[in-house]
Formats: sequence, structure tokens, C-alpha cells
Amino acid sequence: MAGSGSDSEATAEALESQYFTNNPPPLSLHSHLALTQAFIERHTDQGRRIALVTSGGTTVPLENQTVRYLDNFSAGTRGATSAEYFLEAGYAVVFLHRQFSLLPYSRHYSHNTSSFLDYMKEDQDGRVVVQEQHQPEMVRVLREYTHVKKQNLLLILSFVTITEYLWELREVAKLMRPVGAKAVFYLAAAVSDFFVPKDRMVEHKIQSSEEFQANGDNTNSKPPAARTEGKSLIIDLEPVPKFLKQLVDGWAPNSMIVSFKLETDPSMLVRKAQYALEKYQHHLVIGNLLSTRKWEVVFVSAMDGEKWIRVPPSRRTKSLSGIEALVGRAGGADGDGSELKHSDGRAMQGEPAVEIESLIIPEIAAMHSRLIRESVREKGTV
Ligand code: PMT
Repeated sequence: MAGSGSDSEATAEALESQYFTNNPPPLSLHSHLALTQAFIERHTDQGRRIALVTSGGTTVPLENQTVRYLDNFSAGTRGATSAEYFLEAGYAVVFLHRQFSLLPYSRHYSHNTSSFLDYMKEDQDGRVVVQEQHQPEMVRVLREYTHVKKQNLLLILSFVTITEYLWELREVAKLMRPVGAKAVFYLAAAVSDFFVPKDRMVEHKIQSSEEFQANGDNTNSKPPAARTEGKSLIIDLEPVPKFLKQLVDGWAPNSMIVSFKLETDPSMLVRKAQYALEKYQHHLVIGNLLSTRKWEVVFVSAMDGEKWIRVPPSRRTKSLSGIEALVGRAGGADGDGSELKHSDGRAMQGEPAVEIESLIIPEIAAMHSRLIRESVREKGTV
């Protein structure tokens, strides 16, 4: 029997309280929140819109003193690239990212197949300078970066584990409440669905040798979630509560919420995105397939229904020469993109010549403007 609305709200609240009681906050939370508070005050005073961009993958530690953990594929390309386009669109950006994943601006020179030293040379005076062919692009990136830094438009926060991510998201969202309709939450991080609760986690490194197996130092009556049995490693994860509902209803009730839906099976994508939109009742779900995510995404929203955003056909791929050929074949930072087909059957190769985020973010900014206007009409204020 389905529960009533208030029953499911009570359950969601109980799950939230249980999760955050049992899984303690990261040590850096206080300092992150102090920085965020100052950042928000500065930009709300100036009437600026603020985007919280989440980026990169969360880890699931198997031991308290962590040697082993589960991870996912995300390099943070979507988040770091999107943050740059939000800044270009006039937003201040809180960039909540997985530590050591891609960062806005520096992403152009990190995580690819060449070393950053390949961009440099020694001049006749023995000083290190940027090679001639890289000057125009590096000057462009450096100018943008310097402007953003001078104006304090970008706040960079980091997480590693799923629990760190959820604590940071919840507390930063609550701080952003006064920004109201002028805030957008852009949830591009790849968030773990399963995890090891703190009270089912062993303290020390899981031993592979049977002579040294302990497996008994957790505080729960259930066995440790990750343990050895004989020669096998058993991993018995529990579901991470879905916090999107809490974000929409409780943590950031007046802001625009954009979530991503990642699938690998094209036949599921739109259905799953529509399901998420109905379930969480937020503003926009952006569906993407693992294999084609740099070429096409689908927007699913109550405002505009289903709308595909695609890199224009004439600008699909970079020419495969020199370093670009290497990047194209390896699929950049995360090894994809070659020998693939769009959902409409056309082939894709290499890297797209246009970053799809340059098309995604202006669409979102326009939707955001409409939502702000609606909010002003309804409430007389943002
Ligand atoms: O970083 P890149 O390599 O560029 O890759 C980008 C990306 C593919 C990771 C990105 O575009 C993307 O799709 N991110 C979302 C991945 C994801 O977590 O999808 P999901 O289908 O598992 O979750 C859907 C939504 O539910 C997410 O908005 C997530 O915040 C939310 N969720 C997920 C897990 C969880 N325990 N609670 C949640 O609320």
C-alpha cells in the first residue's frame, strides 16, 4: 500500500536524520562554510546570480583508515567545463568538486595525454616561456581566469567520499537559501548509489591472508559491510538515501534545481529522466548517455517537455592531427568518444570541436531568467 504524502515526508526526514547522525561530517566542513557564507554575502549584495556546480565522482571507502575504496569513471569534465560557461554567463560559481578532479580553466592543461611541460620551452635567457603555438589559447584562458580571480567569482570546495559530498551539499544549500530564486543547483557530480555505513565499517585494512583476518571491529550487530570470508572479499553495500527530494523540498526550496540522469542504455534515458522529474518535482533533468555525453544531451522539464541539445553536425569532431589525434583516440581524460553512434544513428569520432556545455549553459540561464520572472510575479520578490 502506498503511503500518504506526509508519511513519505516523515520517512524522508527520518532517513535524513539517521544518515547525518550516523555518518559524521568532514573535518573541513566548518572552514568551507565560513568561506561560502562570505562568498554568498558578497555576491547577493551585488545582486548576482549564484550557481552551485557539483562535479566529479564520490568514493565509497571500505575501511575507516581507508586503503581501499570504490570509485566511478567521472573525471569532472562536465562540471569544470560548465562552471566556466556559468561564469561567462555572469554567474558567481560555488564549485563543489571531487578533490584532484578537473578544475575550471586549469582543465585545459591538466588530465590530458600530454604533460603541461609540453606547452613550455626554455628561451635564450634560460627562462621558461609558453611555446608560440600555444600562446593565443593560453592568453585567452589566462585572461578569463585572472578576471574571475580578481572579481572573486569562483569558490572552489572539495569532497572525496559520498558522505563528505552529502554533508557539503546539504550545508552549502542551506546557506544559499537567502539567494532564493537567483540560485541554481547544477548537480553534475556522479553520486554513489550504495555505500558502507560508518557503523558497518572496519577500522583497519581488510586482510587478505586468512591467518590475519579480524572482521570484528565494527559497532553494528550486522557483519562488516566489506569483509573477507575464506579467500573471498565480500562487499555488501547499503543504499544511499536519495537526497534530491530533500534538496528540492527542504534545503533549497526556492532555487532552480537541475539534476543529471546518467544511463548506458539509450532506450531507458528519456523514460528515466521523466521519472526523476516526476518523482522529485524539480525544474530540469538533463539526460546523458555515458558513450555520447559530449555530443548530445536531452533536457526534460515541465516548462519545455523533451528537448535534445546536440553539437552541430559541421562541428562534430576536431581534426585528428598531432596532439589532437592522441586526445581523440584516447577520448581525452576519460577514454571514450571513438567509434560511437548518436541516438539517431550517425557516427561520432574523436572529440567534439564544440564543447556541448557552451550550448547547455545558455539554455539553462534562459530558463533560469524565466523562473526568476515567475517568482517575481508570484511573490513580488526573488
Ligand atoms: O565528469 P564527466 O566525465 O564529464 O561525466 C559527467 C557525468 C556523466 C558524470 C554527468 O553528466 C552526470 O550524468 N552526472 C550525474 C550522474 C549520476 O549520479 O546519475 P544518477 O542517474 O546515478 O543520479 C541521478 C540523480 O540522482 C543525480 O542528480 C544525483 O545527484 C541524484 N542522486 C544520486 C545518488 C544518490 N544516492 N542520491 C541522489 O540524490
